[in-house]
Amino acid sequence: MLEYSNVAARYGGFTALREISLTVAPGERVAVFGHNGAGKTTLLRCGLGDVGEMDGRVLYNGEPIVPGSVYRNARRGIGFVPQGHNVFRDLSVAQNLAIAGLLHDPGYVSEIYRLFPILAERRPQLAGSLSGGQQQMLALGMALMTRPTILLLDEPTTGLAPVIVQGMLRSLVEINRATGAAIVIVEQNVAATMQMVERALVLKTGRLIFDGPSAKLAAHEDLWSWF
Ligand SMILES: Nc1ncnc2c1ncn2[C@@H]1O[C@H](COP(=O)(O)OP(=O)(O)OP(=O)(O)O)[C@@H](O)[C@H]1O
Ligand SMILES: [Mg+2]
Repeated sequence: MLEYSNVAARYGGFTALREISLTVAPGERVAVFGHNGAGKTTLLRCGLGDVGEMDGRVLYNGEPIVPGSVYRNARRGIGFVPQGHNVFRDLSVAQNLAIAGLLHDPGYVSEIYRLFPILAERRPQLAGSLSGGQQQMLALGMALMTRPTILLLDEPTTGLAPVIVQGMLRSLVEINRATGAAIVIVEQNVAATMQMVERALVLKTGRLIFDGPSAKLAAHEDLWSWF
């Protein structure tokens, strides 16, 4: 369980998030929406301990997430797929997955290849020469190699063709069902994402203006104008 209590985050003098209180339950699928600069990435980074200045408290399974403790938090089961294709471009698909799994179970790679058969086909190919969608799958596969119990994803479908977007979102639901990992996904593809989450959060200039079932958000016309 990931719990934020009255969290604020700053970059220098600028407050990017304020008064954030929310809880992500084990196995839950939650979307985070909001316009550019609303604080979505910062919200995820607070959950990973990857933000310099933070007030309030973030707890993961009852233990605090302190700023700067990313490595420890990754080992505690918090998986993070950052914005952009974060893969080692000059290494092969297989090498990327092996590095990500070094501290865990290297044999788990067979599960990644089952989820994303295209990665199995491209095993020896340099990651930098994969298509955008394939790189995104690889980045997700690398996060899964750390055997997360919660997966934080920052716009994993950016730049992908609509048909690939659907496939990627379906894979996330499959991962959620197969591993029980909770999913917190920041997305601009609001309509497609709403179909795969149980709950949605909406941020507006650093504040949480909606937290509830996705069906309730869908019915809330004034909120739609924020994205
Ligand atoms: N390293 C930084 N230094 C200074 N300001 C920052 C830094 N990172 C983010 N910010 C500012 O904090 C605010 C929130 O940024 P954040 O990246 O969390 O927004 P976002 O909702 O993810 O936006 P986007 O949809 O564009 O990815 C923005 O105004 C941004 O300019
Ligand atoms: Mg962002």
